[in-house]
Amino acid sequence: MIDIERPGTRLRRLRRSESIRRLVNETDLHPSKLIAPVFVRHGEKVVEPIESMPGVNRYSVDEVGSYVGRLWDAGIRGVLLFGIPGSKDEMGSQAYSSDGVVPRATAEIKANIPSVLVVADVCLCEYTSHGHCGVVKEGQVDNDATVPLLAKAAVEYARAGAEVVAPSAMMDHQVAAIRTALDDSGHRETVVMGYSAKFASSFYGPFREAAGSTPAFGDRRAYQMSGANSREALREIQGDVDEGADIIMVKPALPYLDIITKARSRFNLPIAAYSVSGEYSMIKAASINGWLNERSAAMEALTSIRRAGADIIITYFAEQAANWLKEAS
Ligand code: PBG
Repeated sequence: MIDIERPGTRLRRLRRSESIRRLVNETDLHPSKLIAPVFVRHGEKVVEPIESMPGVNRYSVDEVGSYVGRLWDAGIRGVLLFGIPGSKDEMGSQAYSSDGVVPRATAEIKANIPSVLVVADVCLCEYTSHGHCGVVKEGQVDNDATVPLLAKAAVEYARAGAEVVAPSAMMDHQVAAIRTALDDSGHRETVVMGYSAKFASSFYGPFREAAGSTPAFGDRRAYQMSGANSREALREIQGDVDEGADIIMVKPALPYLDIITKARSRFNLPIAAYSVSGEYSMIKAASINGWLNERSAAMEALTSIRRAGADIIITYFAEQAANWLKEAS
C-alpha cells in the first residue's frame, strides 16, 4: 500500500498554478504554425457565408485581399487557396487557366500583403462538372490523363506568385510531374506540399458544399485512401518524399492522429496536418447549440494535432485561434 503521508511522486505538484502549468507545458501552439484555408470565387464584391461552416465565407477576388490582411493582422502567415470558378467543365479547364480565380486571387493578395505565404491547392474537383478530382474516362478517373493537367495548374499558380503548391488529387506520381514542370518553367524555388496521405473521408462534407465539388456519381474511394490502412499511408508518404515533396501532409487530422505520429517517427520532412471542414463544423455546431465550449474544444483539438507530431496545422479556426493565443499570452 502507498503511504500518502510520505514524500514521493506527486504529479499534482506541477499542476498547482497557471505559472507552473505553463512552465511544464510540452506542446505549444503559435499562429505562425497555422495556415488558413480561403475560398475564392468568381464575381465581384461578394462575401458569401458557407452555411455548413459558420464563420467561413467565400470571397470574390476583389474582396480577398482585405480578408487576408485581417488574417495577417491576427498573426496568420499562410493561406491555402481554393478556387470556385464561374463555370465548370468535363476537363476542369478553369483549374489551369492563367486568368482563373486562384492566379487572380494570388496576385490580389500579393499586391495587398506581399509577405503572406500563398499556398495554392492543386486539384480539379472544384473545376470539373462531374466533381471528380481528375479527368473521367469510361466511368473512372484516369490517372495519367489527369497528372499533366495538375502540373499545368501548378505552373500557373507559381507564375502568379504562389510560393507553395499543394496537390490534393491523390493521383499517382502527381508530385514528380509537378516538380518537373515547375523546374522546367523556371520555378525551382516553388515548394511542393503533398497531400501525401489523404483519406476518403466523410469529414470533407462541408467543404464539398462550400466548393460545390460533391461527385455527381460514385465517390472518391478509387483514388483517396481507405481509413483502415496505416501501412499504405506510409507508402503514400514515402512516394511523395521520393518524388521530391518538400512538405508532407496527413488529412484529415483528428481521426488520423496515429498516422501523423507514425509519419513523424519515420520521416524528417516538415509534416502538415489538415484539420478538415467536418472537424471544424462539428465543434462549431456543438458550440452554437451550447453543447461544447468552442474555444477550449478548438484549442484542445489543435493542441492534440501538434502533440501527435504535426509541425503545421491547416485549420478553419486559424484566425480565431490566433486571437485566442494573443489573449492568453
Ligand atoms: C480536394 C480537396 C478536398 C478538400 C481539400 N482538397 C475535398 C475532397 O477531397 O473532396 C477537403 C478539405 C476539407 O474538408 O476541409 N481538392
